[in-house]
Amino acid sequence: MKLAIIGTGYVGLTTGTCLAELGHQVTCIDNDPEKLEKLKKSESPIFEPGLEELMVKNTQSGRLTFSDQIATAVKDSEVIFICVNTPPKNDGHADLKYVEQVAREIAQAINSDYKVIVDKSTVPVKTAEKVRETILRYSVDEAKFDVVSNPEFLREGSAVKDTLEPDRIVIGVDDDKAKKKMLAVYQPLIDKTQAPVKIVSVKSAELIKHGANTFLATKISFANLIAKTCEEAGADALEVLEAIGLDTRIGNQFLNPGIGFGGSCFPKDIAAYKKTLEVLDIDSSLVDAVEKINQQATDDFVHKIEKELWVLDGKQIGILGLSFKPNTDDIRNSPAIKVIEKLKKDGAKIRAYDPEAMENAKKVITGIEYDTDPYKIAKKAEALIICTEWDEFKKLDLTKIKELMSTPVIFDGRNIFDPKKVKALDFKYFGIGR
Ligand code: NAD
Ligand code: UGA
Repeated sequence: MKLAIIGTGYVGLTTGTCLAELGHQVTCIDNDPEKLEKLKKSESPIFEPGLEELMVKNTQSGRLTFSDQIATAVKDSEVIFICVNTPPKNDGHADLKYVEQVAREIAQAINSDYKVIVDKSTVPVKTAEKVRETILRYSVDEAKFDVVSNPEFLREGSAVKDTLEPDRIVIGVDDDKAKKKMLAVYQPLIDKTQAPVKIVSVKSAELIKHGANTFLATKISFANLIAKTCEEAGADALEVLEAIGLDTRIGNQFLNPGIGFGGSCFPKDIAAYKKTLEVLDIDSSLVDAVEKINQQATDDFVHKIEKELWVLDGKQIGILGLSFKPNTDDIRNSPAIKVIEKLKKDGAKIRAYDPEAMENAKKVITGIEYDTDPYKIAKKAEALIICTEWDEFKKLDLTKIKELMSTPVIFDGRNIFDPKKVKALDFKYFGIGR
């Protein structure tokens, strides 16, 4: 099938590339000239394992192309995916101006050739209705189309795998013709993976996305609450949470306590869901608590550091990990940034390293040193702080680290080390909930 992807970021680029890999003819559109220049050379603008190889393969086969010509792509395609960003406004509402802009541009390009417009961006319930109204309002010719919701569940760092091996495919569709087209888009993937397909109403699909992200964030905040309880009571959070998660009704994924969840999605999607609750006059205190505990997780970690190191002014501190999670160069809402900003405010001298996110970090965090060698981060440091659980950090030679440090203190914000082993090496060790 001929498909268009509008917005070639984490979601658009991964979706477009994977749909080309499944045999479709895909045109990915973006209006960022710098990004487009890289894309046209088959270079991925983001670090995402396996993505660039697939881009190269599919551009060479001619199934994947990149352009800024939205009108041509819309005219040439049967199904058009909207994958633009939906950032938060200051008040928490999702800012849908990019979605609206794309809907207006689609309106200019469509006519009586039937099109399926798919909203893949994460949006509040009832957005598809607005997209439909917008296309009708701005279309020049007689427009024949349906608007479908097809939420995306990929995670950064494993985006390609999540797309090619999905837990489920959700298609929100209120029309039979659009349903057939969407099933045809996904048929190669369904045949390959036997992934369950949930055909639901458009509004249900929109809510499934906000519901799933809010539930996952709730699990993490619950784990952080248990971790805090364990710290106060002298229990071990990993023992407690592992046993809780062994109940198959609960499951052990997304129960890792840490310094809080970040990223471009959980914080914004929770805020947007809360706005939906407000609009529908539904109490949001469960979600308020999830946000509050998340903020506390970062604050408590900083307090732990301040309590142990006392005066931070002039102290040399090493930071390992800047991205909001491992295997990505994304630093949007990274808890590491919040930790660094707080320590910097107290006068700490910071040297930081991340395997992939340093270029992005340098644009946002100034007034600190960066180094590409984790051992140089440890050199003369009075404390080493782990903010992201990159595998590389788990394999560090801790004996060497100890020799390099001025005072051997580790604050392990992601519980990557075994407290017993680290303490046996004479480190002072602070994990989360341990
Ligand atoms: P992103 O910022 O990485 O990419 C969005 C892209 O859209 C950018 O390249 C931007 O230049 C482009 N764009 C914006 N307006 C445009 C226009 N008018 N014409 C052409 N291109 C335009 O965003 P993302 O992380 O890919 O997220 C996109 C959506 O998917 C969001 O709603 C997000 O919540 C959702 N989502 C993201 C993830 C994730 O892991 N990042 C996962 C699931 C869902
Ligand atoms: C999340 C969801 O997992 C995806 O399903 C969803 O598609 C995506 O948001 C989205 O809507 O954009 P992502 O933000 O890429 O994906 O990363 P996650 O792996 O979910 O991690 C989010 C944050 O939670 C990270 O800061 C991570 O460190 C933290 N986390 C995760 C924990 O603190 N503990 C855990 O047990 C799991």
